[in-house]
Amino acid sequence: QRRGVVSMSVQKTSKKASLAAEKLLHEFREASATPLPLLHQVSDAMVHEMYAGLSSDGGSDQLKMLPTYVENLPSGKEKGLFYAVDLGGTNFRVLRVQLGGKTGEILSQEFKEVAIPPELMVGTGKDLFDFIAGTLASFVDTEDDSLKSHSGEVRESGFAFSFPVRQTSVKSGIVIHWTKGFKVDDAVGKDIVKQFQDAISRSGHQITISALVNDTVGTLAGGRFNFEEETMIGCIIGTGTNACYVERADTVQKWEHPLPKSGEMVINMEWGNFRSPLLPRTFADEIVDRNSVNPGDQWFEKMISGMYLGEIVRHVLARMAEEAKLFGGYVPVKLLEPLTLGTPQVSKMHADTSPDLQVVAKVLKDVYGVETTTLEERKIVHDVCDIMGERGGRLAAAGLYGILKKIGRTGKAENGSKKKTVIAMDGGLFEHHEPYRTYMESALQELMGSDAAYEVALRLQNDGSGIGAALLAASHSQFT
Ligand code: GLC
Repeated sequence: QRRGVVSMSVQKTSKKASLAAEKLLHEFREASATPLPLLHQVSDAMVHEMYAGLSSDGGSDQLKMLPTYVENLPSGKEKGLFYAVDLGGTNFRVLRVQLGGKTGEILSQEFKEVAIPPELMVGTGKDLFDFIAGTLASFVDTEDDSLKSHSGEVRESGFAFSFPVRQTSVKSGIVIHWTKGFKVDDAVGKDIVKQFQDAISRSGHQITISALVNDTVGTLAGGRFNFEEETMIGCIIGTGTNACYVERADTVQKWEHPLPKSGEMVINMEWGNFRSPLLPRTFADEIVDRNSVNPGDQWFEKMISGMYLGEIVRHVLARMAEEAKLFGGYVPVKLLEPLTLGTPQVSKMHADTSPDLQVVAKVLKDVYGVETTTLEERKIVHDVCDIMGERGGRLAAAGLYGILKKIGRTGKAENGSKKKTVIAMDGGLFEHHEPYRTYMESALQELMGSDAAYEVALRLQNDGSGIGAALLAASHSQFT
């Protein structure tokens, strides 16, 4: 078999090829299966690790269960001009909001999004923070004269920093390590806000960071502000994945400070690092993990989130093309190259409902130069995307069910009346990949059961992390 060359015997081999491809598909489907009993086991294992991570010795090597120092979520009464910086994936956003002071009232809101130059993702802390501070500073310079800061010359900003951080207060914290392809080694073990604040000083601007929050915490805060009191969980399914939730502070055994007045503490789980032999991993997950910058870490994240979905599907298709002559013996050279299939393309193929799968055909042609495909081959490709979307959505639902269990919101309704729980969601995969979202929603309903005591709603909190960081900067303002 010659790579990149159309086999001369395409016609003759196609029947056999499709059988072999069907066989591989079947194996892949089996290896990725997430039947309901398995999801229950996964959520139990998650709960087990949550307890271990909260215990006095923080005894989980998987779930960090980080106290965030956020003891009160926004009340809706926050008022004034605030900024936020949102660093978490490949894009970086700065935003400005004018909060009105009444529930959910945002008088104005503007933002700017820039791509992080790839070399900064693996460079030095100084270069990364100078870039971010410079972008924030020039955005502050575009402020309209009509906008007045309550703090005179000084601007206040929230900082949504979506990596594992051991917080030392609501506005300081030490970077534990990087995820999602970032590797800025000299920033690890140091206070991230100090590094950022120093870069802001170098830019000559007066901007104070009043809150450091994980993106899940920002999303939860934004959810509370927009939806209702019953928003208890913030969850991101985007480049990476993670969740935070409102925990009873007295159950956080490792918390060494006086208990907060509210009796509550938001916990950043860092659930992306959940790892269990129960997880249905395939050969493709193993390759993706091995080739990542953090092999062995973030198993759950690598099986669920957007950064890895395209790669997993690509590995499966490459194997099918090579071993089972999917595409009639033609093995596009590019299919063997890393990162050539993006998650947005997988989403597009997965969402293709045309009877002849024309979107799948177009993606295969545009990305890999596969000029002609049979409907049978396109169905196989579609099925691979579907299997992965289904697995991701259902595993994410199992994680959420674990949290609901931990906070006592599962179980049967006693007199038929249901109470409510809201989960604030954000992240590109959740927002843009409809079949994934549908799998996730229905798995959560399956797990809850039809006679559940709580009705659980997943609500998209658009740009949750940025707005939420600004809101938390407002509620933790240094000047009011
Ligand atoms: C990664 C980060 C985590 C973040 C998540 C979603 O898992 O470690 O902090 O919340 O991605 O962006």
